[in-house]
Amino acid sequence: MDLGNNERRMLRVMLSKPDHSWSLEQLLSATGWDDQVHVAGAGAGLTEAGLVEVFEERVNSVSLGEEGSSAVSVGLLEARLWGWISEQQPNDRTMAALSSEFERHEAGPGVGLLKALGVRLEAGSMVAEDEGSVSSVIEQRSAFIESLSAGPLKQSTLDADMVSHFSSRKGLIVVEERVSRNWALTEAGSSVDASMLEEVDLIGDVTPELLQGDDWRDARFKPFDVNAPTPTPAGGRPHPMQALIEMIRSVFLEMGFSEIEGDFVQSAGWNMDSLFIPQSHPARTMQDTFYLSEPKQVEVEQEYLDLWARVHEHGHDTGSRGWGTPFNQEEAKKALLRTHTTVNTVRHIAENPHEPCRVFGIGRVFRQESIDRTHLPEFYQIEGIIHESEANLPMLISTLKTFYSKMGFPDVRVRPAYFPYTEPSVEVDVMWRGEWLELGGSGIFRPEVTEPLGTEWPVCAWGLGLERLAMLILELDDIRELYQPDLERLRRMPIL
Ligand code: PHE
Repeated sequence: MDLGNNERRMLRVMLSKPDHSWSLEQLLSATGWDDQVHVAGAGAGLTEAGLVEVFEERVNSVSLGEEGSSAVSVGLLEARLWGWISEQQPNDRTMAALSSEFERHEAGPGVGLLKALGVRLEAGSMVAEDEGSVSSVIEQRSAFIESLSAGPLKQSTLDADMVSHFSSRKGLIVVEERVSRNWALTEAGSSVDASMLEEVDLIGDVTPELLQGDDWRDARFKPFDVNAPTPTPAGGRPHPMQALIEMIRSVFLEMGFSEIEGDFVQSAGWNMDSLFIPQSHPARTMQDTFYLSEPKQVEVEQEYLDLWARVHEHGHDTGSRGWGTPFNQEEAKKALLRTHTTVNTVRHIAENPHEPCRVFGIGRVFRQESIDRTHLPEFYQIEGIIHESEANLPMLISTLKTFYSKMGFPDVRVRPAYFPYTEPSVEVDVMWRGEWLELGGSGIFRPEVTEPLGTEWPVCAWGLGLERLAMLILELDDIRELYQPDLERLRRMPIL
């Protein structure tokens, strides 16, 4: 049996009266402890070891309220009034005299209390049929209040009429339910040999000083209880979304990618026309895209406006026939909040058409979505490209598989999909709790996209949802939980 010192002490004390059921106060005085935490702790340990049993009893305890405490020092209201009345000559026991002696807030209720005891007003004077009985009731009441002045008492030990009388008066007494515990030895506990319960010095901290000497060789060590409950420190921590972004960033950096950034405000031209999204595409309408009113337009180089016009109208020299409809350059200059981060990667290619690259960016995008369990009007995308002479579809797929498996999702599948700017286009799903969940789009940029940018190489491109991934990793079923300032909930989210 491996008992701690407190447990040994409590058990030894209890063995002095093996059949007794010990109250907290009795155990405190017998053990010499001044903190009930020791009794509770050692009691729990002994209970766990099957040596002690705890009995809990719910009892109503009665203590003094604020008015009650003041009655202890100055006297009950009826006692003070009756005392004053008794000192007056019979003719001076008038309401007027009483009112000048006592505050109005005392005189009124005080007279009420006395009337209930049989005091009457007769010809302007206060009289009682039986003065002796008034005095005696008041004395009993005072004694009752006095008896509580040393601390709370069990209701069952008190006069029920008194409790009910004072319960009906404001602030005099407080009746509360309390749990009282008693500890008693079990059979196994009573048969422990008290001489085995010497307290031993157990070493809790292994210090360098201890290890330098030889004493530790004979020392007894406190067992280390990894299951002991401890308070959870609530220190500062990064927001889970920020922590996840950092994690994704380090995964791509580890895979040899460099990070790029871009502005929230873009032209429709770069956000859409450069990607060969037809100007009549429904996603371009005000129901889907946030257009700016200030500025209404942003500058776009004429060279690109002309190029996109030719590509959209007839395919330019990309081998495509284009959309076959007139291109509106004013439409391309419209200012908007970027609807995807693909705008960053195309612009990166336009700025570096002859430099092979592997770049990624994690950025916020904006769409006119109604907020619900899985949609937000502002969310993050994880965007990336591989732009080099040998870029191809298997390279794209293996890159995405590597990324997701580093994020903890080894099962990835791709399905054919459609985007106006990629061919082939693939949708990426990951396996989560036995289900395939769609996490993003990808593909190889079409020549209608890459040629006007000035490159001859293929480009593997992807745009993945971050919040969806966050929901899986943080085990949320409502996307809004990510952005609610609920510190309790945020604190409970896993540390990444
Ligand atoms: N831009 C697409 C989206 O927002 C994702 C995508 C990026 C698809 C790159 C193909 C290539 O959903």
